[in-house]
Amino acid sequence: MEPLKIGIIGAGAIAQRNAREAVASGVARLAGVFDVNHKVARNMAKALSAPFYPTVESMLASPDVDTVLISVPHHLHRPLGVQAAQSGKHVMMEKPVANSLEEADAILDACKTNGVGLTVNYSFRFLPKIQKAKQLVEMGALGDITGIQILQHQYKDPGYWTGARSNSPDDWRASREKCGGGFLIMTTCHIIDYVHFITGLRTERIYSEYGTLCSPAEVEDIISIACKLENGAVGSLCASSIMRGVDQNEERISGTNGTMVLNEDGISLFSTRPVDGLKPGKVHRIKKFPDVSWTAEWVRDFATSLHEGREPAVSGRDAWDNLAFITSAYDSMEKGMAVQVPVLPSVTGAKER
Ligand SMILES: NC(=O)c1ccc[n+]([C@@H]2O[C@H](COP(=O)([O-])OP(=O)(O)OC[C@H]3O[C@@H](n4cnc5c(N)ncnc54)[C@H](O)[C@@H]3O)[C@@H](O)[C@H]2O)c1
Repeated sequence: MEPLKIGIIGAGAIAQRNAREAVASGVARLAGVFDVNHKVARNMAKALSAPFYPTVESMLASPDVDTVLISVPHHLHRPLGVQAAQSGKHVMMEKPVANSLEEADAILDACKTNGVGLTVNYSFRFLPKIQKAKQLVEMGALGDITGIQILQHQYKDPGYWTGARSNSPDDWRASREKCGGGFLIMTTCHIIDYVHFITGLRTERIYSEYGTLCSPAEVEDIISIACKLENGAVGSLCASSIMRGVDQNEERISGTNGTMVLNEDGISLFSTRPVDGLKPGKVHRIKKFPDVSWTAEWVRDFATSLHEGREPAVSGRDAWDNLAFITSAYDSMEKGMAVQVPVLPSVTGAKER
């Protein structure tokens, strides 16, 4: 398999890890770096012995680049994703795919029309804990899913919103127009992705409340969502970036035959069925998982998918569905009512949605 020749677009905070892990994946080499902040791009290019490109056009015109890994503020996902696809480059996009479904449509369309691959960095799916949870659900440990509860609380200090944690400081995270939203689209989007992945279910209807209570931002720092899944299961999600002192990350998935709790300690599973060699009717704690680089796994899967001519594990459609959940949550609060989550019937665009 030929290695991917990856051009890095955006050399800010997360791009540091993305670039290193792309190299570590063993299926890619760094073919260049571009950032409007030339200093950070030059630094990365030097550190990773890759060429520096002074403009995005020069990178996209280069035959030495066949794939771009885009890690830039959200409002730039569409223009750069579309431009890369139109230049015949495969697109690896940081999450979320875009800020709106119309923007996401444009990216999916451009990739389809130009015959290039698209994946979005929902790579937590590759964590062994998440893979194990999905396997247990598929083995029937929970029976039919009846309920999902997600809790994600952290504390983001004011510097988070002004870019103080980045090597390329900018306050785009605080802007509704640039970021598309707050904690939900920025952070909780990963959990929404992997809970849908684990259960194989999509969310059908959403009602939400959110606010900006104590952050220097236009976007939400706390959100609460009630939802109904396609099989009738009922879910809730509470997330905030203003919980002081105690981080909390927990997903509880229950069904007709059991309950599974995922948190920092691993997986706790109760099942009335004998699955995976586990005694039924008892709570089992599954704590040990191999250490893997989820980002490198994501790169490896994308390279293999192109080689095998299949969809990547995290497809454009998956990312579109994820964004449909997020934008519906924002929509619901603005309308003051429950909303249906849109469905993408094909990747040919908004007209068919
Ligand atoms: N997967 C994860 O766990 C994870 C974690 C953090 C951030 N992210 C995502 O990564 C993306 C970037 O976030 P970040 O925290 O690295 O932001 P950042 O602000 O640290 O970096 C963004 C970079 O993009 C550059 N940039 C701006 N406009 C550009 C343009 N037109 N062309 C090229 N470069 C441009 C900036 O100069 C900056 O260096 C976002 O989509 C964010 O949601 C993902």
